[in-house]
Amino acid sequence: MDMEKVHILDHPLLQHKLSILRDETTGVKEFREVVSEVASLMCYEATRDLPLEEVEIKTPITTARFNSIAGKKLAIVPILRAGLGMVEGILTLIPSVKVGHIGLYRDPQTLQPVEYYCKMPTDIAERDVIILDPMLATGGSASAAIQFIKNYDVKHIKLMNIIAAPEGVERVHKDHPDVEIYCAALDQCLNDHGYIVPGLGDAGDRIFGTK
Ligand code: PRP
Ligand code: URA
Repeated sequence: MDMEKVHILDHPLLQHKLSILRDETTGVKEFREVVSEVASLMCYEATRDLPLEEVEIKTPITTARFNSIAGKKLAIVPILRAGLGMVEGILTLIPSVKVGHIGLYRDPQTLQPVEYYCKMPTDIAERDVIILDPMLATGGSASAAIQFIKNYDVKHIKLMNIIAAPEGVERVHKDHPDVEIYCAALDQCLNDHGYIVPGLGDAGDRIFGTK
């Protein structure tokens, strides 16, 4: 597997919180809170390459030039449903980011993604986009979402997943070699139902308490 475009974020805080998510005894309230915290910590790393510019600031002592984010236009696009759980955590760090939505669910028989909703910021073509989804399993949903956003003429796309499976990484690499993947863990494999092993189960169900 070509790991050049995969960033596995191994910060101890992130790894600790990921273990809480994996634990089947973690209840819906804590699960939701920790998904949000994990998204914040991942956002910190995924935005490491944001350009800075110098601006003049008057401190109580003197006036000098200091760093400020260079007005780079960003958007985040959660894949519904589970990606929604990561939005709040990103907004904590980047409150002004615009948010698009893509509704996809995975057909349980074919494992193929089915699209049911899409709403993007009108100026999405001028923005760099970070796609959010806690799970990258077969990669079908992520690959379809990336293609969807590329169809809007977006040039720079990153994919942020809490847990990725090797199969999903391969699929995204093959379909979209330009897209960098940020994840907190690269797990072993998929089981016969397309679930990540060891994984954390069904992310949407655990965030929204639907099972
Ligand atoms: C989950 C997950 C991803 C997708 C990953 O969503 O949040 O979107 O599966 O699987 P893939 O890589 O094999 O495509 P799901 O289809 O369960 O929908 P939900 O978020 O509405 O529960
Ligand atoms: N979707 C999930 O929510 N979990 C998995 O393990 C795979 C796909």
